[in-house]
Parts: sequence; C-alpha cells; structure tokens
Amino acid sequence: MSLTTLAPGATIGIIGGGQLGRMSAMAAARLGYHVHVLSAEPDPPAQDTAHRVTIGAYDDEAVLRAFAQSVSAITFEFENISASGLDLLASLCPVHPAGSILAISQDRILEKSFLGDHDIPVADWVSVPDRDALPEAVASLGFPFILKTTRFGYDGKGQFRIADQEAIDALAAHLPYPLIAEGFVDFERELSVMVARNEAGEIRCFSTTENQHRDGILDYSLAPARIPVALAEEAQRLAAHIATTIGLVGIMGVEMFVSARGALLVNEIAPRPHNSGHWTMDACLIDQFEMHIRAVAGLPLPDPFRHSDAAMKNLIGFEGVGLCDAVLAQPGLALHLYGKHETRAGRKMGHVNALFPLGALPGPYGIAARFDQALKPALEIAQEP
Ligand SMILES: Nc1ncnc2c1ncn2[C@@H]1O[C@H](COP(=O)(O)OP(=O)(O)O)[C@@H](O)[C@H]1O
Ligand SMILES: [Mg+2]
Repeated sequence: MSLTTLAPGATIGIIGGGQLGRMSAMAAARLGYHVHVLSAEPDPPAQDTAHRVTIGAYDDEAVLRAFAQSVSAITFEFENISASGLDLLASLCPVHPAGSILAISQDRILEKSFLGDHDIPVADWVSVPDRDALPEAVASLGFPFILKTTRFGYDGKGQFRIADQEAIDALAAHLPYPLIAEGFVDFERELSVMVARNEAGEIRCFSTTENQHRDGILDYSLAPARIPVALAEEAQRLAAHIATTIGLVGIMGVEMFVSARGALLVNEIAPRPHNSGHWTMDACLIDQFEMHIRAVAGLPLPDPFRHSDAAMKNLIGFEGVGLCDAVLAQPGLALHLYGKHETRAGRKMGHVNALFPLGALPGPYGIAARFDQALKPALEIAQEP
C-alpha cells in the first residue's frame, strides 16, 4: 500500500465542530493545512479557526458527498456518525481513523468485546439487551454495579449506579435499553494515555495522565500521573498495544482505572483528541492536536517533548466561566476558551493549564508545595488522596 502525505495547502475535513475540532483546526493551520469543518449545529466553536464550515446533518448523503469531495482526508472530533455515513465518506476520500475503529468505540459492548478478545484487562461486564437480562447481571456482578447505555454516552450521561435490588426494581421499567452492566471498580485513581499512530506504523504516547472526575465530567488532569514510573509505562504499553491491534491512524485517548490492588483496567477508548490531553497544548512541543493532524496527514510523529509538568483544569458551566477573571489575573496559567455563546450547567466552556518544572509536580505519591500555591485560590485541585 502506498502511503500518502498531504502537502501544505491541502484541506483536511473534520467532522464535528466542537472544541476538539476548533483546536485541531489550529494545529492544522500551523502545519500549513486548511480545514473544512462539517457541523450539525449552527455556530460551532470550530468556526473561528476553520477555513470553511458546512452546517449540515451527518446522515445527509448529499452533504457528506459534497464534503468528501472538497477535502483530501477526513477525520472527526465527534464519534456518533452512522456506519453508512462513514462508508459513503470512505468510498470518496481517505478517512482516519477508519470507520471500523469508530464503530467499536461507539458501542460499549463491541468495545469491551474487542478489548477482551485482545487480552486487555477490563472490568467485569454483562450485556443487558432488555429488562429480562437484569437478574443475570445481578447474579454475575453483585452489587454495586453500573448500567450504561451501549451508545451515545458521554460525560457520564446515560449511566445509572445500582446499589441494591430496590434500586433495580424502581428503575427496571424505565431504563433506556440496550445497556451494558459493569462491575463497580473501586479504583484508586483514573488514568489516561493519549496514543498517536500513523499509516507507517510510527507510535507515540504522551505521558500517562491522572484524571479526576466530578459529576461524571472530567474536572482536572495532572501530567505526569502521580504513580510509580513502572505503572505509567505499563499504561503506555497497553495504549500502544490497543492502537496497533485496532489499526489506528490518528490519535486516541485510552481511559483506565488503577484498581485497589494496583492493576490497570481499560475503561474506554476514544479515537480522537481527548479532554485529558489538553495539558499537552502548553506542556509539550508537539501537542495532541498536532500529533493527531500529523498522523492523519501522513507526516512523521516525533517525540512530543514534554518540557514541563502540567495540571489542566476544565472550566465547566457557570462556575467555570466565573473563574476566568481570576485565571487571567494569575501569572503562570494559560487560558483556553472555546467560544461557546451560551453557558449551560455541565457544559465545557474552556480549560486552563498550569505548568511546573519537570519533577516539581509529582514524585510518586508526593506533591510539590509550588503546585498548590500556583493554583490557589483560583483553582481547586484535590490533594493527594
Ligand atoms: N465500572 C466503573 N466503576 C467505577 N466507576 C466508573 C465505572 N465506569 C465509569 N465510571 C466513572 O464514570 C466516569 C465516566 O464513565 P465512562 O465509562 O468513561 O463514560 P463517558 O463516556 O461518559 O466518559 C468514569 O471516568 C469513572 O469516573
Ligand atoms: Mg470516559
């Protein structure tokens, strides 16, 4: 197979116009590419940074056809494009990552099956296609467990924590089947690895990142994770293994739990730039968005060269918007806003990165004094548990 490299001046198509598309388009522009964004929503965040924007439905054949014919390669920042839409695009233009990867990540059952089939450790799970399958889930997982919609979940949406039989009895008739039931992981912490791979098979992992969620939404990320180096490297090996076996071209976020016994369990994969990789924008020479565009464009993937340790805090909803003035006034913080016109509860409005000298952030299970001072009072970052 001949490998294609996009020349400067080529146009890359991005499906989805959210903040991930906005920031991918900035990276593409820096490398000399144009970006054409296809967004189903009017006024998308990516319209400020893209060369061209089409507003149209992701399942409209005429829209997809015209979009594919206007670009040299297609990628996406939005995962819920239909399989038939992806097939149509792929018949007209190279699509990276491939639709088959998206199909796996779109469906939690396909995703868990794929990971299990490749000996990647995951939490215990049971498919719950309908109400009749609930007793089997209870019998095999025990309480507590989590029910999740198999498709279209994000930021903790479509999830139901089930503590006991009473909770099931109350919910069973109203749940949005099909579901997956997952054993509740009493995790010690959550990690993620951003891994990029190009068609030539070059692979790069960013530093293993520690993530803290609040109300099901990523609250902040720390890089590198405050864990022993051997565990951080094992997480990167797992991510690279998944990228290779799935045939990734592009970037992918691999979310993991560290179990109470210190073992890694993969939670989910996201074959696109990922919120937990936003720290790379200020702490690395090559950030996750550039690595993604490089992979899609067939360019070499260099070492990302993390020159600093970093903390990323999401600015969510009204509370997040309310922090902006303090962030702007405090030295040492980089503010990134997404240009969303309307603030809503739980909506990601922007993020802020704080940098630290290498080694000043962690040390396994320790925390540097400077870390707190630089972030407070503007930002609340939890202490080492
Ligand atoms: N099996 C589980 N055990 C414990 N916590 C979980 C489990 N699954 C999800 N969570 C928590 O919920 C968060 C969101 O779940 P996730 O499966 O990543 O869905 P989403 O697609 O919404 O990100 C996770 O980051 C984690 O904090
Ligand atoms: Mg997740």
